[in-house]
Amino acid sequence: MNSKKRLLTGLQPSGTLHIGNYFGALKPFVNLYKEYDSHLMVVDYHALTTMRDPGALRQNTIDVVKDYIASGVNPEEAIVFKQSDVPEHTELAWTFECLVTVPFLMQAHAYKDKVAKGLEANAGLFNYPMLMAADILLYDTEVVPVGEDQRQHVEYTREAATKFNNAYGETFTAPQEMILEGVGVVPGVDGKKMSKSYKNTIPLFGSTDDIEKAVMSIVTDSSGERPENVYAIHKLFRTDAELENIYTEHAGKYKNLKEILASDIEAVIAPMREKRASITDEIVAHVLKDGSERARERASRKMAEVRKKIGIFSV
Ligand code: TRP
Repeated sequence: MNSKKRLLTGLQPSGTLHIGNYFGALKPFVNLYKEYDSHLMVVDYHALTTMRDPGALRQNTIDVVKDYIASGVNPEEAIVFKQSDVPEHTELAWTFECLVTVPFLMQAHAYKDKVAKGLEANAGLFNYPMLMAADILLYDTEVVPVGEDQRQHVEYTREAATKFNNAYGETFTAPQEMILEGVGVVPGVDGKKMSKSYKNTIPLFGSTDDIEKAVMSIVTDSSGERPENVYAIHKLFRTDAELENIYTEHAGKYKNLKEILASDIEAVIAPMREKRASITDEIVAHVLKDGSERARERASRKMAEVRKKIGIFSV
């Protein structure tokens, strides 16, 4: 019997990761997942709310599994699977959609933001929170590690559980969000928050060359005593005391400081990059196949209970 608490999180297959993703989300996750009965799921059907390129969706799905394994997730110690391999997710989502109201879903941030920008949301985006509720509730998940931006989605999940339990009797456990305490904001090469959309990133699995280029492009201004943008990124890799020495010794020599930063980043990234290169598509396929078998076993049991309760039967 597994006495560990059950944990589940969803990974967006959203393309190339940068060191901001690593320090903000991957690393804190890698540090804690073994303490739980962990489920790590690639949310390919959620991605369909924004992606139209089948080749990219397929490739990103494979890539995100490689990224997590290379960052330290051992697939023997977590159930790693993709959402689409367990059809119970979309099935349960529909069931929840029939229980919650349109005004309730209209309050969801992702939908509201879209509308506020004058854009038309597709119905998938509108229903997104109920697919996420299904992801979580199918496994009697207790803990959901997510970023602050996902807090509301976990609240929506609890609401779906309550609605169902009130209508059909005690069935689902209320999950709790666990807001990952990564390094708050990781600054990019221009000093603003590191983000793909700002094009100010240092790639997580970049080559030695990519890293050097990105580091050399860090914007420095000579008004203060030290290049603050270089220092802010350097802090992720060394203690304050170490940095104190380095920045005193090389005061005013911005190029030297950047070279030291590049080699510090390289020292952390190189082993992960090598590990990632050794993970073939076949290995990913094997991990996902094994993971989906284990996930389906749990999900199908829960869904059978749900079908029975709501009056859906097979002849
Ligand atoms: N909405 C989450 C995000 O954008 C991804 C997600 C989907 C998720 N299903 C989940 C996270 C279930 C935690 C649990 O990051």
